[in-house]
Amino acid sequence: MRRELKIFSGSSHPELAKAICEYNEIPLGASEIIKFSNENIMVRLLENVRGSDVFVVQTSCPPVNEGIMEMLIMIDALRYASAERITAVIPYFPYARSDKKDKPRISITARLMADLLQTAGAHRVLTMDLHSPQIQGFFHVPIDQLIAAPLICDYFRNKDLSNAVLVAGDVGESKSIGRYANRLNLPIAIIDKRRDGDDEKARAVHLIGEVQGKDALIIDDEIASGGTLLEAAQFLKRYGVKSVSAAAVHPVLSGRAVERLHQIELDELVVTNTIPLGGKQSQYDKFKVLSVAPLLGDAIMRIHNGDSVSKLFR
Ligand code: R5P
Repeated sequence: MRRELKIFSGSSHPELAKAICEYNEIPLGASEIIKFSNENIMVRLLENVRGSDVFVVQTSCPPVNEGIMEMLIMIDALRYASAERITAVIPYFPYARSDKKDKPRISITARLMADLLQTAGAHRVLTMDLHSPQIQGFFHVPIDQLIAAPLICDYFRNKDLSNAVLVAGDVGESKSIGRYANRLNLPIAIIDKRRDGDDEKARAVHLIGEVQGKDALIIDDEIASGGTLLEAAQFLKRYGVKSVSAAAVHPVLSGRAVERLHQIELDELVVTNTIPLGGKQSQYDKFKVLSVAPLLGDAIMRIHNGDSVSKLFR
């Protein structure tokens, strides 16, 4: 007998979970999440999951640490309720930037996240555009990483790109920008960005490539404090670009990010809904938000049916 597919949502991004369910034409799993006055969390599944193939959608957004606990508790509840297979669907992976020991006496917290998910009972993980792909190696269970490049490129294909150049805001992004350059058949430029500490102050020091008189399209995996984007845009203006637009997969938009966006003369800022924008969308009118719900929905169906997920990379 085929296992029944069920999708449950944590409280981080219920709109995305509902959109995935609508796309796959299945109802969202019923659950309740209670937070007690002592801040303990209780998750109760309100339907039978015995023997089911269950997907739990929880992204990383404020309150980040509470969202992690909630996801772990939900996975544990599913395990004790005899779900046959549990997949954690994490559109934006928590602590993804803590992926290495680049200072003495610090934690590799992204690996700790992997340990916690597996200990809670996750049999698989489905995520998107990891800050660094080696995070996949922190897991001993299968992990599928989707990429938003096809979705973002489809959007830009409908624009005039005859004078465009893709710009990597830092050397780290220079590898992933190839996904965009190949799909859009565009030249690239790379900014040599340095950070002097953990103060969110990015400093552009060199530029590799031709940008003068061009329409620059900055590509990044995420916009967190907005420091990298602000510095890159200002740097490109000094090099005589005609216009600047930007695209980033994960709109983290922490701290003073929206304030920083207002300091940049961007033509357009394309992001996806891996993280809810909430009120920030009304504070900045240049956001164009692309939905990853169909992509995640397709991946969930493929995992459920045992089909190839790499087909989705087109
Ligand atoms: C850096 O390695 C990433 O690709 C992003 O550029 C960075 O995470 C963005 O952070 P922020 O917006 O805080 O500068």
